[in-house]
Amino acid sequence: MTKKTIAVLPGDGIGPEVTRAAIQVLESIGRLYDHEFVFREGLIGGSAIDEKGDPLPLETREISAESDGILLGAVGGPEWDHLPGDQRPEQGLLGIRKMLDLYANLRPVKAYEALIDASPLKTDIVAGVDFMIVRELTGGLYFGEPKKRETIDGEEQAIDTLAYKQSEIKRIAERAFEAARVREGKVLSVDKANVLESSRLWRETVTECAETYPDITLEHMLVDNAAMQLIAQPTAFDVIVTENTFGDILSDEASMLTGSLGLLPSASLGATGIGLYEPVHGSAPDIAGKNRANPLAAIASAAMMLKYGLQMEEEATRIENALEKVLEAGYRTADITESTQAVTTTEMTEAVVKALE
Ligand code: NAD
Ligand code: IPM
Ligand code: MN
Repeated sequence: MTKKTIAVLPGDGIGPEVTRAAIQVLESIGRLYDHEFVFREGLIGGSAIDEKGDPLPLETREISAESDGILLGAVGGPEWDHLPGDQRPEQGLLGIRKMLDLYANLRPVKAYEALIDASPLKTDIVAGVDFMIVRELTGGLYFGEPKKRETIDGEEQAIDTLAYKQSEIKRIAERAFEAARVREGKVLSVDKANVLESSRLWRETVTECAETYPDITLEHMLVDNAAMQLIAQPTAFDVIVTENTFGDILSDEASMLTGSLGLLPSASLGATGIGLYEPVHGSAPDIAGKNRANPLAAIASAAMMLKYGLQMEEEATRIENALEKVLEAGYRTADITESTQAVTTTEMTEAVVKALE
């Protein structure tokens, strides 16, 4: 029996609903493969602010640092939008990413065959979509200093800084090349090198890094064009590597190729070996507490934890197959069907568990 300790940080809004679904699926995997998963729950985001006055309490940091992997729901919501920037729920998420140096955010985008009709795009455009966004996660505008408000000539001014060190670019580029090695061998680096100095260093560094990977084809594209090409010919992509902000925006855009933001999982990896696994979507305040959220992104994130964090590839594949099976069987949450036949979060989760066993 393998024993693994998993930190569970449900967070806010639909976070707890979809995290519960992922845990149910992991428990089922535990039964099937005789693994013992020990779940240790911690507060993060708005709920942590309400209970502890801190979006990332010490106890949560400890639980996370002592775990074999972290499963996170989502943070944020209108209740906390009035707070100053450095005290918002999102700081909990940014804080834990920084604390564990989780610089590589893998966001696979794969269109399920059964859901080809769920995308607002034409089926011949989205059929066969299968790429991976490798988003830099601990640099760029999110963390650059200075980040502040000041008064200039009697007027309020706000500053965010977009900075990248060469070493930060190199290590994320290496992740992208490694990812491409087990895929189709193509990396597209997305930047804004026609305008931004940080992008020019990005492009130079990625190009230099490519010399070590002669088996991989590297191309570059400006981000505005990439946003368009993602819709025009999304099957042309294999691995997309890009900086923090561009990756954030492009991945939400890419979700619509699959039909819903509620389908995209992610893995955030660093050097410590402790990864964080969370859906790409947020806390969805508009549907929170209604048992309507699509749990598949969270469940697929748990599968990514098994694959990338716990060396349980077979178990991960079993989950992925179960997801395909329930979709083929016609199960649809409200985000991926217009019919009144939509199933609830709990019904979808039960269907996945049944398909597993
Ligand atoms: P969101 O991702 O929460 O929601 C965008 C839209 O997608 C909403 O209409 C929502 O109902 C829908 N949606 C998202 N996930 C879904 C799911 N699983 N099933 C069905 N529908 C789903 O983005 P937002 O509304 O811009 O942000 C809300 C809050 O979430 C903000 O406070 C934001 O900071 C936070 N946020 C957190 C994370 C995170 O924790 N990783 C990510 C994104 C946004
Ligand atoms: C995401 C989210 C976060 C981000 C926010 C909530 C800080 O949008 O994980 O995509 O921008 O990274
Ligand atoms: Mn985002």
